[in-house]
Amino acid sequence: MRQQEILQDGHGRRFYYLRLSVTDVCNFRCDYCLPDGYTQDKSAGQRPPDLSVAEARTVMHAFARLGTRKVRLSGGEPSLRKDLPELIQAASSTPGIQRVAVTSNGYKLPGVIDTWQQNGLDQLNISIDSLDPAEFARITGHHSLPKILTGIDRALALGVQTKVNAVLLSDGAQARLQQFLHWLKTTPVTLRFIELMQTGDNREYFASNHLRGAAIERQLIETGWQLLPRPIDAGPAREYVHPDYAGRIGLITPYSNDFCTSCNRLRVSAQGKLHLCLFSDTGLDLRQTIRTGDADLLAEKVRDLIGNKEVSHYLQQGNTGGTQNLSIIGG
Ligand code: 5AD
Ligand code: SF4
Repeated sequence: MRQQEILQDGHGRRFYYLRLSVTDVCNFRCDYCLPDGYTQDKSAGQRPPDLSVAEARTVMHAFARLGTRKVRLSGGEPSLRKDLPELIQAASSTPGIQRVAVTSNGYKLPGVIDTWQQNGLDQLNISIDSLDPAEFARITGHHSLPKILTGIDRALALGVQTKVNAVLLSDGAQARLQQFLHWLKTTPVTLRFIELMQTGDNREYFASNHLRGAAIERQLIETGWQLLPRPIDAGPAREYVHPDYAGRIGLITPYSNDFCTSCNRLRVSAQGKLHLCLFSDTGLDLRQTIRTGDADLLAEKVRDLIGNKEVSHYLQQGNTGGTQNLSIIGG
């Protein structure tokens, strides 16, 4: 197989970006995701263990051979795995992988960020839905906001590019926006507002809390924020900058019509299933092939499967596919 072969689906989309979930376990209880906390599904007794470091390495080698240049390790909460530093190291040492990112809830960030960075981490995404400590605790079930903010400062000091994800929630949205704006004046992070997505588990919560990103976007434009031109290989976020602010603001609006055409993600779950879309009904099982340790064979298999990626999800029609919540494949 040629080294530069680029993975492309039947709709001309290229998948230079792999999101690899390393566990579906999470210790937070975000209202819209795992309000009652993580519980193992009933079949978990017979379930094989999550991908080992060696298996993850095979996955990353295979995708790199197909043109993947960026790997994001996600969860659940990836830092619940003690071997996350080794997973980061495996990603950063895979030939062809130029960027390694981690998505985390940040609960132990100050104690681990130095090690992650030393193992090759380039980019960090941390979820903060509110900068008000009490509200943060209400949403996530954890009083860890101050610690997370300390960790972010350390990440920035180490030169790790840092993005903060905030799910847009209707109740109190203006107050939260003002707090975020104040913070962004001096903090050089990209804050990304993500529209709440409906999943199998959160139908009622979605109905009462969904807020469209469009209103926020209008407000930003009216107050002097400017849309950046979108790089060709950019994901689905639209990014804004403002001369008076050190930080940037991005919007991720899965309910807008053209969202899926810019999707450049492929996801592999901690159980080794390939998800072509967050909202596809089933993952395609790669585990057997992963276990062989043969990255070429796995690359062939993935290439055959990619042709089937659908043009779009059907969220607008209220079809959430098989996705109960996003802890399984990490958003
Ligand atoms: N809608 C939108 N974002 C979600 N996330 C988790 N569940 C949802 C949902 N239903 C977000 C988390 C985190 C990212 C990984 O996904 O808040 O920022
Ligand atoms: Fe919250 Fe992410 Fe954990 Fe879900 S997986 S409960 S969104 S921290």
